[in-house]
Amino acid sequence: MDTYRCIVSKKDLRTFTDTPIADDVLRKILNGGRMSGSSRNRQPWRFVVVRNRERLAALARFGRFAQHVATAAAAVAIVVDDAANAFDAGRCAQNMMLTGWNFGVASCPATPHQHDEAKRFLEIPQGKTVPIIVSFGYPRAAGRGPIERTALRILAGRGRRPLDAMVFWERHGNAKLMNHRVC
Ligand SMILES: Cc1cc2nc3c(=O)[nH]c(=O)nc-3n(C[C@H](O)[C@H](O)[C@H](O)COP(=O)(O)O)c2cc1C
Repeated sequence: MDTYRCIVSKKDLRTFTDTPIADDVLRKILNGGRMSGSSRNRQPWRFVVVRNRERLAALARFGRFAQHVATAAAAVAIVVDDAANAFDAGRCAQNMMLTGWNFGVASCPATPHQHDEAKRFLEIPQGKTVPIIVSFGYPRAAGRGPIERTALRILAGRGRRPLDAMVFWERHGNAKLMNHRVC
């Protein structure tokens, strides 16, 4: 898939089919994360991959909006040293999600609000943090499913604000309109 098309067509989907993700595709997704740039090239991340259905269901209970983890073919917990690595973790998560989408695998992040419980469950060492868990799986042909109907009402499905509402030229506040349409 063309990179730009991959970026602009990526939606966070939360209901997945039962189809497992082949090992070579999952490996590519993880490698997409591995290849991310990071501050001083520290690569402060570790990835904990969960594929066991019962463990996915248990993991889903550690976030207020993490129900989709239970239906995923695989979930990847991104483990970093501390909050200072949040930008690195975000780059890593997005690279994994875009790699997945390139191979037709949908995804959605989940915030583990019960962070300490999630850490215990995943046996994450002391001093590390899990800012985000990403669900991966194949999207349903019927489109968004029952989880989206709940989640979308609360936090998603709002589309994006127009480019001209967020881009300023030279100085914040200088909102000169662009003279071409972005599609
Ligand atoms: C840091 C972060 C945390 C998120 N946490 C959750 C979450 O806990 N549960 C969830 O369903 N979606 C979560 N999302 C997904 C957002 O709701 C989603 O990116 C946003 O609604 C845009 O969705 P769209 O790309 O499908 O339009 C999270 C996204 C980010 C960036």
